[in-house]
Amino acid sequence: MKKIAEHLYQFSIYIPPMDFTIHQYLMDTDPAILFATGTVQQAQAVLPEIKEILGERELKYIFVSHVESDEAGGIAVFQKEYPEMIVLCSDLAARELPGYGFTCHITPVREEITIEDGELDLCFINYPADVHLQNGVLCMDKKSGIMYSADLFLQYGNGVGQLIQSNWETEVSAIDEDRMPGLQNQKKLKESLALCKPKIVAVGHGFCMEV
Ligand SMILES: [Fe+2]
Ligand SMILES: [Fe+2]
Repeated sequence: MKKIAEHLYQFSIYIPPMDFTIHQYLMDTDPAILFATGTVQQAQAVLPEIKEILGERELKYIFVSHVESDEAGGIAVFQKEYPEMIVLCSDLAARELPGYGFTCHITPVREEITIEDGELDLCFINYPADVHLQNGVLCMDKKSGIMYSADLFLQYGNGVGQLIQSNWETEVSAIDEDRMPGLQNQKKLKESLALCKPKIVAVGHGFCMEV
């Protein structure tokens, strides 16, 4: 675990044969939010650290970008510890998750929705493609400028604890067919992202960026 910015803790595993990093993030704001659960195994590994960071405080929100084991696999592990937690996810994920046996509170979110709650001011970006071409979402806390970007800025390499300097306009304009299949999808996503002014991009895989 590494604290990479104010209120932002990164939990990671690095897989050498794939040269690939998988990250989750906790914002220990009031209320607290976790971006991505990790797989069941990862969730079990990081739960004690999260409990230590939060102490008596509850984990109120878990953000799930799309239904995939690294994003959503560990929901039940956290639900056992924090029964009242709310999963924020896309409409599609909200329909899918109960079918996998998840019984947690679920609030579907999309681009038109914002959630202002205590220290959090969350907005969402429709993220219309990933490996399964699902209708996912990304999340940004407007107060801190922290954006969780799931698979969008995926990079190979050992990104554990790394925070590289970059430029938001450059990163957004570099979104290509590999990052987002379909010109229409690319155009719409870039328009939405251009309206965001993140300070920190917390990536699901690779290297976090200060932008
Ligand atoms: Fe994914
Ligand atoms: Fe991912």
